[in-house]
Amino acid sequence: MNQQQRIHQAKLAFIGAGNIATAIISGLTSKGISPDNLIVADPADSQLAPFRDIGIRATQDNREAVTQSDVVILSVKPNVLPGVARDIAKIVTHVNPLIISVAAGITLTSLSEWLGDQLALVRCMPNTPALVQLGASGLYANNRVTTEQRELAEEIVNATGISVWLEDEKQLDAVTALSGSGPAYFFYMIEIMSQVGVKMGLTSECSRKLVLQTALGAATMAIQSADEPADLRRRVTSPGGTTAAALESMQNSNLADIIAAAIEAAHTRAVELSRVAEE
Ligand SMILES: NC(=O)c1ccc[n+]([C@@H]2O[C@H](COP(=O)([O-])OP(=O)(O)OC[C@H]3O[C@@H](n4cnc5c(N)ncnc54)[C@H](OP(=O)(O)O)[C@@H]3O)[C@@H](O)[C@H]2O)c1
Repeated sequence: MNQQQRIHQAKLAFIGAGNIATAIISGLTSKGISPDNLIVADPADSQLAPFRDIGIRATQDNREAVTQSDVVILSVKPNVLPGVARDIAKIVTHVNPLIISVAAGITLTSLSEWLGDQLALVRCMPNTPALVQLGASGLYANNRVTTEQRELAEEIVNATGISVWLEDEKQLDAVTALSGSGPAYFFYMIEIMSQVGVKMGLTSECSRKLVLQTALGAATMAIQSADEPADLRRRVTSPGGTTAAALESMQNSNLADIIAAAIEAAHTRAVELSRVAEE
């Protein structure tokens, strides 16, 4: 069975019907995955109604959801995960599905302790652009995950954007600091640039429109180009021109150090929060 067939045949159970589950499910259904192969569990019936409306089975019973699953996606908040995991442990040990956890800071050691130590486990660190299928996720698998299961996990997560595999579980803290929190860094930049546009005499609508399209255009060019972002930057920086004046001002203000310190602060916090989540 190839990768395409596998994703279309796998039975996927989502535990927790919130933002991330919704993002993955809408990505999967837009890729043509049949609603018949999906089941969602959540204690709140109101959370389940939108899934039922599009033909996806929905239940308030987590155990029922995992009973016939090939993949279980744990998409609940980290604080409720220990209880959720212990409750389904017996069934998943029997059914032996691939488990994908998106819970921030919850290690594979804890997941194995709560669910059972013979399971194929993948940790995933997504980000909020997953909601518009432009997410960036970090993935880490334990050594029970087969090549086929890695491909399946990747295919599921990629329904929300792109993903990268990590070699060390600790790198998930770096992913949290870089792409997990990253959308906020770009939102902040957009806010600042839009405000400056207004100070220079543009309307706020006009300023924001220009800034947003510039952000999208720059990201798209950087994605599509074979050249390094630094080369793209140099190419639009004529000596003595406006871009050169701006970049010189940024460099004189040590912007690189400011950004690096901010991301390092996020990394330190991610490590701390992982430790707290484990206690
Ligand atoms: N959102 C992001 O961008 C993002 C990024 C990285 C990682 N994550 C991780 O993704 C996970 C989910 O985040 P989210 O934003 O999707 O959270 P969310 O929107 O709050 O979704 C979690 C859902 O789980 C439900 N739930 C609570 N207790 C449950 C139980 N015992 N059994 C089944 N479902 C239960 C919640 O219901 P109630 O609302 O009624 O409690 C809620 O509907 C978190 O662990 C988070 O760390 C999220």
